[in-house]
Amino acid sequence: MDVTSEEATDVVVEAFSKTPDPRLREVLVSATRHLHAFVQEVDPTMAEWEVAIDFLTRTGHKSDDVRQEFMLLSDVFGVTMLVETLESLRHSNATTAATVLGPFHMTVSPRRELGESIDEIGSAVPCIVEGTVTSVTGEPIPHATVDVWQADSEGFYDVQTEAGLPEGNGRGFFTADENGAFWFRTVVPAFYPIPTDGPVGELLRASARHPYRPAHIHFIADAPGFLPITTHCFVADSPYIDEDAVFAVKSSLITPFERNDDLVAASRFGLDQPFDHARFDIVLAPAEGA
Ligand code: BEZ
Ligand code: FE
Repeated sequence: MDVTSEEATDVVVEAFSKTPDPRLREVLVSATRHLHAFVQEVDPTMAEWEVAIDFLTRTGHKSDDVRQEFMLLSDVFGVTMLVETLESLRHSNATTAATVLGPFHMTVSPRRELGESIDEIGSAVPCIVEGTVTSVTGEPIPHATVDVWQADSEGFYDVQTEAGLPEGNGRGFFTADENGAFWFRTVVPAFYPIPTDGPVGELLRASARHPYRPAHIHFIADAPGFLPITTHCFVADSPYIDEDAVFAVKSSLITPFERNDDLVAASRFGLDQPFDHARFDIVLAPAEGA
C-alpha cells in the first residue's frame, strides 16, 4: 500500500515491533525514529543519499583487523566519547575518568620492569612518569597492572611504519609494586594527527576541521576484583588541549609535565641530567560483586 512520508516512520517502527529481544527492539525502533527524523530534516536528493552510501561503503572497505575506520568516524562525531561518558555514569564517579582507547593499541606491549624506559631510541630529554593505583576508598592496589602506550617526541607510534621506529617503542606493560606504585622512563609525547588517509580524513577536510590530538600517554590499569580503566594523561601545555579532534580531553586528566634540573632527584631514577617529570595517579572501582 502507498505510505506517505508522514506515515513512513510508524510503518517501519511497526515492522520492528515484534523483535523478540527487548533491547534490540528498543535500539531498532529508536534508530528508525531518529534516522527518519534526520532524513525529514535534511531532505536529501537521491544523488546525495548515494554519496552517503558510497562514503559508508568506502569506510567499510578501509577497515580491517588493524584499521577501524568506522570507529574513527564515531570518534570524530564525538560518539565514542559520548558512549564512554554515559558508560562512566553507571560506575563510581570517584574513579579516574575514562577516555577513548584509540586505534594504536593493536600490539601487545612488552613487559617491562618498574623504572625501565619505554623510549628505546633516546629521542629527547628523558621524562619520568610516576603514579599509584588506588581504590576509590584510597587504599593502594598492590601489583595492579598498568599498560602504557604513547607517540614519541615527533608524534609517531611504533606501528606507524613511516616513522621507522622499533616495535615496542613507546609501549610498556608494568606491574605496580606492593604499594600500588608505578614509574617508568619515557619522553614527553608530541601532539599528532589521527589517520587522515581514508574517508574520515576526507570528511575532516570537507568540513575544514583539523585532525590533531593534544599530546597524551594512554593507560589501561587493571587488578583482580576491580573494573579496568582505559584512560589518557594529557600533557598540560600541549597544542590542541582545548580542541581535540576526537573530543576526548577531560580536565581531570590534564597533567603538568615539568622540567626538573635537580641532579640529586635525577639520580634517584638512574639519570645524570635534567629531566621532565609527571605524576599520574589512577583510581579504580571495585568490580560488581567484588
Ligand atoms: C589515539 O589517541 O591513539 C587516537 C584516538 C582516537 C582516534 C585516533 C587516535
Ligand atoms: Fe593516542
